[in-house]
Amino acid sequence: MANAIIVGMQWGDEGKGKIVDLICPAFDAVVRFQGGHNAGHTVRFADRHFSLHLIPSGILHGDTRCVLGNGMVVSPEAFFAELDRLVEAGVETAGRLFVSDRAHALLPWHVELDRAREEARGVHAIGTTSRGIGPAYEAKASRHGLRLGDLGSSDLEAKLRVEHARVAAELAALGAPEPTPDGDLARLSREWAERLEPFLADTEVALAEWIEEGASLLFEGAQGALLDLDHGTYPYVTSSSSTAGGACTGSGVPPTAIGGSLGVLKAYTTRVGAGPFPTELEDDTGDYLRRRGNEFGTTTGRPRRCGWLDTVVARYARRLNGTGSLALTKMDVLDHLDEIRVCTAYEIDGETVRSLPADLAKLGRAKPVYRTFPGWQQDTVGVLEYDQLPKPARDYVRFIEDEVGARVDLVSTGPRREETIVREGGALHDLLGERFTNVLDARGA
Ligand code: IMP
Repeated sequence: MANAIIVGMQWGDEGKGKIVDLICPAFDAVVRFQGGHNAGHTVRFADRHFSLHLIPSGILHGDTRCVLGNGMVVSPEAFFAELDRLVEAGVETAGRLFVSDRAHALLPWHVELDRAREEARGVHAIGTTSRGIGPAYEAKASRHGLRLGDLGSSDLEAKLRVEHARVAAELAALGAPEPTPDGDLARLSREWAERLEPFLADTEVALAEWIEEGASLLFEGAQGALLDLDHGTYPYVTSSSSTAGGACTGSGVPPTAIGGSLGVLKAYTTRVGAGPFPTELEDDTGDYLRRRGNEFGTTTGRPRRCGWLDTVVARYARRLNGTGSLALTKMDVLDHLDEIRVCTAYEIDGETVRSLPADLAKLGRAKPVYRTFPGWQQDTVGVLEYDQLPKPARDYVRFIEDEVGARVDLVSTGPRREETIVREGGALHDLLGERFTNVLDARGA
């Protein structure tokens, strides 16, 4: 049984949380490899709702081990807040939750910088989650960041003093309030270091040992391919590698240990924040998708921009992630539309283009070329068998498979774990091997 990567195929919010929750029983450990608490999903467990942003939802599954990998930026405050809620609900984390000592600390200064920079960008704001993600990764890349393992170091005060001067100068130039004093941060950092100590680990070594012992790992990507720092719609992206390649650098596991990837694709498209979105619907249909799909951010509550499915985007994401298997989510949101459109290509300056241009100005001029499908106008909520989907819905799925070049192995027909069609005999079945039955069991009859 191979290790697998799960990734978003659009601009995030594809419903990865639900799919991870469903397939998690086929794995021994879940590993986050990028991002921070900009991600988020709500999971229902023991009649309670948990909003998880940093800790994988695998923590709610029996003895599944969970890892926050080196590629993440971790806010100790956000981590402890999540941990407290889990402990309060009686979730056992000792010996199951591991945090890389190489992951970078996301400090209050990074949040202060994120907000001030966005404010200063005015109409060109990226629309970040204001969690400090960009500044934390920037500190890492420019080599003056603090890793979680450094929070209790003997030269902490000196490092923070130097960093404080740098942050204060930038905030002053932006006309923003002064940063949190470095003395306060030094005190907090020492407290964090002490509380983090039982969780910190050389996770690269732990993962290598688990692989050696035959454990199977699920690498959980946050955000989506089109928000990837390199491959996304730059600069309207997040600051980490959210495509499958990031799983290796962000966890220290070699590519040879990975068996394949599962791409999560929403049956329509959404995006939060600014940036190009060729199939965006700024009309009643867009409002309808937002309402029926409850398209409001888990992390920030912001309304999401909504539009038709874009297979130019999905093909691009399939190629980047090498995924042969798709989970199609929120299919039921389309149930009562008269007609459904899918973008198959763009028309840019009189030319038909089937791949995503890097040039944002060009992408901004892209006019979607649509294929129109009749709506099925029938409830699919909770349908469990593929054959029981209305014929027009199956035609829609089939078209997506052909256009994107990957099999739809899971179809989500409602928010609950049980509301999922699990198709046997596809790439996901091959990837999971015997453990495919764990997914069927988790779904229930
Ligand atoms: P940042 O990651 O907070 O820097 O935000 C950069 C861009 O990524 C913004 O457009 C955000 O809306 C978007 N983004 C970040 N995290 C998520 C997510 O989990 N889902 C959807 N969009 C996200």
